[in-house]
Amino acid sequence: MTLIPFQNEPFLDYSLPENKQKMTQALQKVKSQLEQTYPLWIGGKDIESETLEKSVNPAKHQEVIGYISQANAAMIKEAIQAATQAFDSWQFTSFEERAMYLVKAAAIMRRRKHELCAWQILESGKNWAEADADVAEAIDFLEFYAHQAIRLGQGQELHPYPGEDNRLEYIPLGVGIVIPPWNFPLAIITGMTASAIVTGNTVLLKPAPQSSVMAAKFVEIMKEIHLPSGVINFIPGHPEEIGDLMVGHRDTRFISFTGSKATGNHIDEYAHRKVDGQRWLKRVVAELGGKDGIVVDETADLDAAAEGIVASAFGFQGQKCSAGSRAIIHEDVYDELVEKVVAQTKKLKMGAPEENYAVGPVIDDKSFQKVTSYIEIGKKEAHLLLGGSADDSKGYYIEPTIFENCTRHSRIMQEEIFGPVLAICKVSSFEEGIDVYNDTEYGLTGSVFSQDRRRLEYARKRMMCGNLYFNRKCTGALVGVQPFGGFNMSGTDSKAGGQDYLLNFVQPKVVTERF
Ligand code: NAD
Ligand code: ALA
Repeated sequence: MTLIPFQNEPFLDYSLPENKQKMTQALQKVKSQLEQTYPLWIGGKDIESETLEKSVNPAKHQEVIGYISQANAAMIKEAIQAATQAFDSWQFTSFEERAMYLVKAAAIMRRRKHELCAWQILESGKNWAEADADVAEAIDFLEFYAHQAIRLGQGQELHPYPGEDNRLEYIPLGVGIVIPPWNFPLAIITGMTASAIVTGNTVLLKPAPQSSVMAAKFVEIMKEIHLPSGVINFIPGHPEEIGDLMVGHRDTRFISFTGSKATGNHIDEYAHRKVDGQRWLKRVVAELGGKDGIVVDETADLDAAAEGIVASAFGFQGQKCSAGSRAIIHEDVYDELVEKVVAQTKKLKMGAPEENYAVGPVIDDKSFQKVTSYIEIGKKEAHLLLGGSADDSKGYYIEPTIFENCTRHSRIMQEEIFGPVLAICKVSSFEEGIDVYNDTEYGLTGSVFSQDRRRLEYARKRMMCGNLYFNRKCTGALVGVQPFGGFNMSGTDSKAGGQDYLLNFVQPKVVTERF
């Protein structure tokens, strides 16, 4: 089977009238489809449960996007049985055959691009470009993993040995639990599910409640490609009720999780408690949070640095694991750069995502409370330079907020806030800047702005993060171009969108035949 060479999905230009018109039409169409009910999907059957949970528009929390059936313990049991049964045959389909499902799904997403963007503009509060980037990334994951699966299907070349045929092939693990977050509502659910199933595993997919209508749209596409029954089982539900049940189940072989450090640590611990009858050590692939930062020295292009800091801190309201929530600036350029950062931030207009304002709401009430409480902490720890106000009367809006003169061990420099809050810290040397950058338990993304080659090389060796950028923002990794994932408390060191990512979901088997 020959696939066309992988290319990243291009981003749409919404300054073009035809794209603007298509998005406006898609938003209208999606608005006419609000408040529908979405079922579970277990063993190829739609199942409506008695308990429904609503998903709302964070920009207008009275607006219901949809109602989602919630799984109970009996349904989890049924889903594990369905996935186990489906694994019997799915594991033996070829990598090529499985890759074809992904290629078809990518084609459908491309056709439905505007509509998929519109759903997440309304359900997740993304502006148009952020939504488009998310859908493009989902398409990229499908096509990239299709290519990688075909490569993996060739096994590993072994050293020849006289009189024997030796082969190494990659076989799947079994039944996995896929648990995505809400902040990249289509891309992450797609990448995590596609990587698990294209390698021959079957899964229980538990979406994040805040983006569960988008997740249901993903499942709709999986139905449209006629994926065999039980390969994906869609089981929305309260994590407190069903999380441990799935993670700790005897028949669960692996957990693929993306989300916060706290949940990731709990899952990691819980998964590694062996239960009666369990026949394997469970594998946990975890992509967690970040306290990412940008270091700027006195040789840097300050306009570029200001642009990079503002885009990294406030893109999608700072709700990215990659968000640059710390700016660490050399004292010689501190005042000038801080002024530029403030000036650029003031240009960001806040308002409804469907009207494509640069800054929209944070995702929900819990997040609103968390971020505003960090703003209060910041007021005690540092100097509030910009923003700080918030209003949740209609939607969960928080102004882009900047604190300066932050000290390296303050909470707003150490803890992931996951909202539009930037902490700025002054340092007296480049080396001190790198030291401050490294002084967190996380290690996901970082940037350096400098014109000094020697310093860039110093940072290349010493900055402890999975994705390091020079002279650009620290968000916006592209599939295949910048494989993505962090170190330390940011995850289990794997790289989504990288050539070796699929190895997380297989085990190598060697067969020797003597002639
Ligand atoms: P979260 O940890 O609250 O939830 C993540 C997922 O876990 C959701 O589906 C949630 O319902 C589920 N969950 C919660 N408790 C559970 C339990 N006990 N058992 C099983 N599942 C449970 O995180 P979130 O708020 O959805 O996402 C934001 C976090 O995700 C941030 O920390 C962000 O940095 C991180 N993130 C990391 C990456 C990465 O690639 N490293 C990418 C995106 C987001
Ligand atoms: N992959 C996303 C980024 O790089 C999280 O911003």
